[in-house]
Amino acid sequence: MTDILATRRGAVQALGFNRPAKRNAITAAMYAALAGHIAQAEADGGVRVLLFHGLPEVFTSGNDIEDFAERPPLGEDTPVFRFLRAMSGAKKPIVASVTGNAVGIGTTMLLHCELVIAGDNARFALPFAQLGLVPEFASSYLLPRAAGYQRAAELLMLGEPFDAQRALEAGVVTRVVAAERALEEAWSVAERLASLPERSVLLTKALLKAPHAEAVARQMSLEGGHFRTLLTEPAARAALAAFLAKRRA
Ligand code: COA
Repeated sequence: MTDILATRRGAVQALGFNRPAKRNAITAAMYAALAGHIAQAEADGGVRVLLFHGLPEVFTSGNDIEDFAERPPLGEDTPVFRFLRAMSGAKKPIVASVTGNAVGIGTTMLLHCELVIAGDNARFALPFAQLGLVPEFASSYLLPRAAGYQRAAELLMLGEPFDAQRALEAGVVTRVVAAERALEEAWSVAERLASLPERSVLLTKALLKAPHAEAVARQMSLEGGHFRTLLTEPAARAALAAFLAKRRA
């Protein structure tokens, strides 16, 4: 699977989106590969930190809309749900480097990371309502906590793109650096995390997550139910068809 690049350096396992022709849109096969890599990293005693990254010009354009329209994820035993559970349940810390566009799940997955380094060219968007859908990956629970209720409502309802500075203010990213330095900075913080006493880092993450773990799992299921229903309704069908028609034009 070359659409997901797995690179191991020391105790850091990096997973990179690598499907430039489709702006790193994520297919079911890519979700399955990511879930597998996360499970492997969690089980590997030599891995201490996970690092997600994209390409310099794009992090990910989110769900592959074509894949999605043809093979809508119908239940919780689907590759996308396996990925959501693997990432939100990961015990090892997760760092992300975001450059370029991070759309949909490209933004919501950041709410499950411990440290997010954004390049100053990063552009985020949560266009769920525009697509006739609802937020996913517990973003309707985690974003209000990170950003405050009204800011979260604006980002999740209007779905307008926002820049790295706004993402910093909304608590979606930890630092903003020059785009060409983002990945290097992410490796550097990942290596720093990997060099700290392992039990302390793992227990700190567990303590940070403990108060919200059940609520996050519940919200993902709730969102997933609405998401699947709305996918079959006219608004989403029209929005997805419009995207596909533009692509084929
Ligand atoms: N799913 C499937 N294909 C996608 C995609 C997606 N989410 N995002 C981009 N692509 C494809 C385009 O269809 C196009 O394919 P083609 O060359 O075969 O026609 C190719 O990637 C390039 O896309 P384009 O829109 O021309 O790139 P851009 O650099 O001008 O814009 C984005 C990049 C990310 C801003 C834009 O592609 C976009 O908004 N994509 C949709 C994002 C989205 O709604 N995601 C779903 C969230 S649930």
